Amino acid sequence: MIYARIAGTGSFLPGEPVSNDDLVARGIDTSDEWIVERTGIRTRHLAASDVTSSDLACEASRRAIAAAGLQPEDIDLVIVATSTPDCIFPSTATLLQAKLGMRNGAAAFDVQAVCTGFVYGLTIAEKFIRSGSHKRALVVGAEVFSRILDWSDRGTCVLFGDGAGAVVLEASDVPGILATALHADGSHHPILCVPGAVASGQVIGDPFLRMDGQAVFKFAVKVLGEVAHEVLADARVESETVDWLIPHQANIRIIQATAKRLGVPMDKVIATVDRHGNTSAASIPLALDLAVRDGRIRTGQRIIVEGVGGGFTWGAALLQF
Ligand code: ACO
Repeated sequence: MIYARIAGTGSFLPGEPVSNDDLVARGIDTSDEWIVERTGIRTRHLAASDVTSSDLACEASRRAIAAAGLQPEDIDLVIVATSTPDCIFPSTATLLQAKLGMRNGAAAFDVQAVCTGFVYGLTIAEKFIRSGSHKRALVVGAEVFSRILDWSDRGTCVLFGDGAGAVVLEASDVPGILATALHADGSHHPILCVPGAVASGQVIGDPFLRMDGQAVFKFAVKVLGEVAHEVLADARVESETVDWLIPHQANIRIIQATAKRLGVPMDKVIATVDRHGNTSAASIPLALDLAVRDGRIRTGQRIIVEGVGGGFTWGAALLQF
């Protein structure tokens, strides 16, 4: 039997942390108190205007590949989850491949599932590896969400940040990914979207992120609880035996409500939203890498990673690290 396990993690955040007070100083009509109380966010990182998702992905990927003890040419599948690609085409994954100096013909493509993108990418990579067609996948979540924010909309611009996280997933004789579940319901697309497009040389429609915050909040708590239960049931694992829960980092109140529904105490939850804000597809691999590098996550531990995002999409994976 071929399994897929994580062999290395990496992440990258651009520039210095930008505090809530820094946003106020930049003229946004908000306060540290409001943002912390409603979201738990204290700082986020914002990329310089010439830095792209593939730049952030490249730094995170180099670190993940090094942590796995590999070279870029050892990778035979590159998947980048992003909603802020460098350009319409080619994919950010192929641009990343070029930046990593990979000339080995590895397959490379992007996944668009917004904040669930990393969980979608991980699940796709696992299926490639378990089929025997590929041996080592680089799965990346990379975003420059600051580019699609309307900085005059205080209800959204304070929530997001930029960054990238990456994992190397490789074929193994021992189980790594124990269960996965992916879902979507497109009927909910209006509550979180960037509705605009580029056509005939012009932006058509609204190019900024729009959100019904309260509808998103309720939907996120419901599906994050359900999908975590789904992977636990699929793997016949009790929630008490899970060492770490890594939910998508959108809002500390969503994270706390999800943990409560699952009966997981907050000291078993990896939370980075206070430092990173919501980095969409990058949030889960960023949090994973942070906890691996600070020694909280150790070999053999059981972890649930789970995401929810625009579409709406949602999904989870139960891992044996
Ligand atoms: N600073 C100060 N005041 C603000 C700000 C701000 N940044 N933003 C909104 N307000 C004001 C509003 O204008 C409103 O004022 P009013 O009562 O005078 O009209 C008041 O605060 C309340 O606004 P609400 O939108 O009702 O605030 P709510 O309590 O719903 O909190 C929030 C908003 C934080 C967005 C919340 O709904 C939420 O967290 N939703 C989840 C959304 C989320 O996390 N999205 C991330 C993307 S989705 C994903 O990743 C899955």
